[in-house]
Amino acid sequence: MDALRDRFPVLARVAYLNAGTCGPVPAAAAEAAAAELRREAEGGRAGLAHFERRTELAGALRAAYAARLGCAAEDVALTSSTTDGVAIALSGLELEPGDEILTSDSEHPGVLGPLQALRDLRGVRVRMAPLAELAEATGPRTRAVVCSHVSWVDGSLAPAALGQLDVPVILDGAQGIGAVALDVGALGCDVYAGSGQKWLCGPEGLGMLYVAPAFRERLAATRRGFVSLEDPGAGLDARPAPGARRFDPPANHGAALLAHGLAAHDVLDGAGWDAVHERAAALAARLADELAARGHDVLPRARTTLVAWRDPDAVATAHRLAERGVAVRYLPPGELVRASVGAWNDESDLERLLSAL
Ligand SMILES: Cc1ncc(COP(=O)(O)O)c(C=O)c1O
Repeated sequence: MDALRDRFPVLARVAYLNAGTCGPVPAAAAEAAAAELRREAEGGRAGLAHFERRTELAGALRAAYAARLGCAAEDVALTSSTTDGVAIALSGLELEPGDEILTSDSEHPGVLGPLQALRDLRGVRVRMAPLAELAEATGPRTRAVVCSHVSWVDGSLAPAALGQLDVPVILDGAQGIGAVALDVGALGCDVYAGSGQKWLCGPEGLGMLYVAPAFRERLAATRRGFVSLEDPGAGLDARPAPGARRFDPPANHGAALLAHGLAAHDVLDGAGWDAVHERAAALAARLADELAARGHDVLPRARTTLVAWRDPDAVATAHRLAERGVAVRYLPPGELVRASVGAWNDESDLERLLSAL
């Protein structure tokens, strides 16, 4: 894994433990994005070749993210973020006043924002229960469950029993895809929304959305446009694209953004995903143990890549660590510090964090 580490320039300087916010960028990804921008600057963006290049990159990226999700490429939409994917799914349910969505009491604004919009604009009721108890908490008005696959707070996992529910399950996979081994079929979810910029080290403004084939027709494509229509030339009679591409947001992803996402994915792919997941989980577990051994109050967690501990001065601690070249984050309102551990990290990063504390 030393070879993987060498692909990320920032790691020469920073103990980078914040992929839960944005992953480190491999040099190859910066070069791939720059090459696309150079091509556009020198060759223009008007011709068929430019359009074909974007289509080619989007197709390759859709296939790459599908492999990470464990599904077919046609079941994946390319979005702009996890939040975007959650919003696409929730608005596509076409809920009515009095319908209820069940969620957990520890969700990120990426879920809470779209839920708040449903509540305020559609009169949908939002009910919360602890993540671990969600599968038993559905009620007669529950129309869907939406929650994290991996909690952004403590790295705990959504209960496996969610996969057995007979209401749609929408998972926020921002801390899942790229971080832990993933198989959406085995999870039994209907929708899985993820981010490109976190554990896949891609650009900000890129995400992916899995929609189970059996669920596709039950989800309305509420925002349609050139990229999500099968035959946009047919005007008002144009049909939605046959696969999950019908949920692609109505904005063309730029070639530089797509090339960054693809090159970053390929750097990790080259290291082998089993090895990537195993090393990150092992290093994270080791950090949790070392923190606890030094008296820190580490939150109970699962075998994931996030480690959070209590600190009444979490904001000051995160800033102090940043000054010492250690990138972690505090979680609002400021009583938890969280480290994100990736396969690109090594023991020296953990040591720098522990000694700077
Ligand atoms: C659990 C969770 N959901 C959603 C998000 C938001 O991700 P995005 O910026 O891709 O919408 C984050 C991180 O910022 C997160 O940790």
